[in-house]
Amino acid sequence: MGEQTRETFGSRIGFIFAAAGSAIGLGNVWRFPYLVGAHGGAAFVIVYLIMVFIIGIVCFVAEVSLGRHTRQSNVGAFKAIKPSWGPAGLIGITAGFMILSFYSVIGGWSIYYFFKAFAGFPAADPVVCNEMFNAFVTSSAAPIFFHALFMLATIYIVYSGVQSGIERYSNIMMPALFVLIVILAIRSMTLPGAGAGIEFLIKPDFSQITGEVLLAALGQVFFTLSLGMGSILTYGSYLGQDESIPNVSTIVPLMDTLIAFLAGLVIFPAVFAYGFEPGQGVGLVFVTLPAIFSEMPAGNLFGAAFFFFIILAALTSAISLLEPPTAYMMEEHGWERRKASVVIGIVIFIVGVFASLSMGVLSDFTIGGMVIFDLLDYLSGNWLLPISGLVTAIFVAWVWGTDNALQEATNDGTIEFAWGSLWANVLIKYVAPILITVVFLSSIGVIKVGV
Ligand code: TRP
Repeated sequence: MGEQTRETFGSRIGFIFAAAGSAIGLGNVWRFPYLVGAHGGAAFVIVYLIMVFIIGIVCFVAEVSLGRHTRQSNVGAFKAIKPSWGPAGLIGITAGFMILSFYSVIGGWSIYYFFKAFAGFPAADPVVCNEMFNAFVTSSAAPIFFHALFMLATIYIVYSGVQSGIERYSNIMMPALFVLIVILAIRSMTLPGAGAGIEFLIKPDFSQITGEVLLAALGQVFFTLSLGMGSILTYGSYLGQDESIPNVSTIVPLMDTLIAFLAGLVIFPAVFAYGFEPGQGVGLVFVTLPAIFSEMPAGNLFGAAFFFFIILAALTSAISLLEPPTAYMMEEHGWERRKASVVIGIVIFIVGVFASLSMGVLSDFTIGGMVIFDLLDYLSGNWLLPISGLVTAIFVAWVWGTDNALQEATNDGTIEFAWGSLWANVLIKYVAPILITVVFLSSIGVIKVGV
């Protein structure tokens, strides 16, 4: 595709909201809190923060630079630098496809919970809320209906294009999301007995840090910053030529971290105030919180606000998962944006239907002991994302070369990149690839990391 026809974001803030929208999602509101809860609180938060800086921001700079330099998404970006590397981009395309198919199912759950919250959750008892959650996700029609709604909204935004879709809706949804989470955090932190929850989040007990915690933290950094599948690379390809890559690549991860922390400040003070268990695991948001909302004064309003927040966060992430495969079909196969977004969206929807059914009627159908939903999550998260992240880091540092990458990241040396030489000579060349490799090998059980 010619460069003249490439769509771009209309403004710097448009890119920041869109990229922050991509990063901020279920990873912040659902995954981060349950990992914090399961891995001992503040110690996990600190490990996570360090990794955001030494790996997250580092890979972020690499992806944005590669995208903006080539003005192409995944496959095209690799090809533009070195034609034989084109197929490397397909790993990310596949990962995005798989992630969105189950992500959209969870997005659908959030829509259902939004309505449920209004009506009021059944009881302040997690056992009852757990039964309600199980009854819903194992049923067939209702979760598919809400999954369809969520996917329709996602397709519609991507179909509308970079500026009039992604940028426009991110500019509306992100500020709304920020306001909502601040209100919710204030509500939660002012509950009687909330102090223990705040302490849990900020007072580290370093004996809690184990090899497993380090791995969970690194996996979370990739997932929450949307790295490794081309969301950020593709958005980078729409970034204006005169914007500062080091600047936006720092702001977006910091915003993402802030929101994750605020989500923690919504959830843990309430969990402790009402005497629930923080280490609940994946059910924290869909089981423990409903129980809390049903006890809290005006809990139906705060509950509805909370699930509305989740819908917004998930939607701006979902569009960033649909955009790379859409851009790929446009660039490599000459499809129109409309056709590409609709066709890919429908295929993803269909895979998602099977993911949804695998919680209920298809739960006996397993591959490697996993139902379809878990399989999609496992394969994309534990295999494709780390492999694709590793390939991208190696490609930028060693194939494209750090001199060229730095040239792009500093707008040909015209803007400042204070830690540019550290980035080029140490972090992207050695630290990121080595750490990603360690995480990958241990997440698939090849090596065991102990502390
Ligand atoms: N970062 C999003 C979240 O936290 C999810 C997401 C969007 C993602 N695009 C991605 C995860 C690309 C991995 C790769 O919910």
